[in-house]
Amino acid sequence: MSLLRLFFVVLAVLECRRLQLVTSHEESGDWHCEPDSESRVVAEFKPGVVTLDGHADDWEDVYGFDFPLLPALDPDQDKAYNGGKMTVKALHDGKDVFFLMQVDGDYVYSKGNNNGCPSVALMFQVGDSATYHDMGGCKESPGTCNRTSCRGYEVDIMHFSLGNAVPGRLYGGNPIDNQEGNGGDRFGHLVDLYAWNPHCRNLDGISSSGNDTAQNDWRGSWWHSSFTTHSGFVAEDSPYTSSKQKGTYFFEFSRPLRTMDRLQQDVQFTIGQSSKFSAAFWYPTDGHPWHGSGHYSISCDWVSLDVAPGSSSSPVKGTSGSAWGAASGFALLFSFVAFCISVFVGYRVADNKSIAFTPMDRL
Ligand SMILES: *[C@@H]1O[C@H](CO)[C@@H](O)[C@H](O)[C@H]1NC(C)=O
Ligand SMILES: *[C@@H]1O[C@H](CO)[C@@H](O)[C@H](O)[C@H]1NC(C)=O
Repeated sequence: MSLLRLFFVVLAVLECRRLQLVTSHEESGDWHCEPDSESRVVAEFKPGVVTLDGHADDWEDVYGFDFPLLPALDPDQDKAYNGGKMTVKALHDGKDVFFLMQVDGDYVYSKGNNNGCPSVALMFQVGDSATYHDMGGCKESPGTCNRTSCRGYEVDIMHFSLGNAVPGRLYGGNPIDNQEGNGGDRFGHLVDLYAWNPHCRNLDGISSSGNDTAQNDWRGSWWHSSFTTHSGFVAEDSPYTSSKQKGTYFFEFSRPLRTMDRLQQDVQFTIGQSSKFSAAFWYPTDGHPWHGSGHYSISCDWVSLDVAPGSSSSPVKGTSGSAWGAASGFALLFSFVAFCISVFVGYRVADNKSIAFTPMDRL
């Protein structure tokens, strides 16, 4: 009984402390972040599992990490996205890394209007000093930020806007934009950016002090669970289904683990190592188009992304071992059968004296 009372006292004390924290947060008005130090996403080595098509059924056996979506500029629990949490899944095949972001949301689509459709972004730390808050956090202004003055504060960003992207189709890096030497995507607006802070943000390869050549290294696709067709959509099918349908949005992306970036504009992934990233989500609430800073984020600080090695205890090796065993067993059986046939043929030839000799050149 007294144990129960103690439990309630502890609970009450905890509740008081929580209330104090909330009020102090509301009073300060400053940036306030209490990140969950546990939050991480693991990209397992699972080759040949997913196809980059916007569909999530092939991700079923991959572990999903759930994150609340709070406003990025004011991470307050009370203002969380009302559709629920975002599930992030990741894996790699030794060459490319794959991401799936899924979030519940009634279907909204406004053809040609990116801000009238949901949108997602991924942001990665590139420079060691780059903070999650303020997109890298370099203190320079647009007139003075450059590769030298903001060295170490680089972040890499992938942003996918849906206004012109047909569901299930692939967008991102394409020969035409890559030939122009930048991270743009004129077809579906799945762009590859870099930034030092929110005001010093550009497509890969483009800068205020001179353009260099870069590429869009991302690929991606989207889908909503209310779509009933699995055959291909074309732009004329827009808006693809009727609006306000309940369901889940899926956003699927891939990128090579390493890119040919020379400008410190791309994150580079290493198997067995951890990177820092975050994911953002924009949603047009009550029919109002979203604006750039009105996004939700999965955390108010970096989240770890572990690119797991294909370890020796993984089932891959076991499978190949048993496949080898089956192959050699089959070969043994085959050679035994061949041996038996040769003995039989030899016996028949020796037995049947009437077989005439037929010279080869008469055949
Ligand atoms: C970068 O900015 C700094 C400070 O504004 C300036 O002194 C420097 O010349 C710039 N460097 C380049 C490569 O533009
Ligand atoms: C870089 O490219 C962008 C977009 O093509 C252009 O607007 C800008 O003027 C270019 N900057 C320089 C310095 O050439």
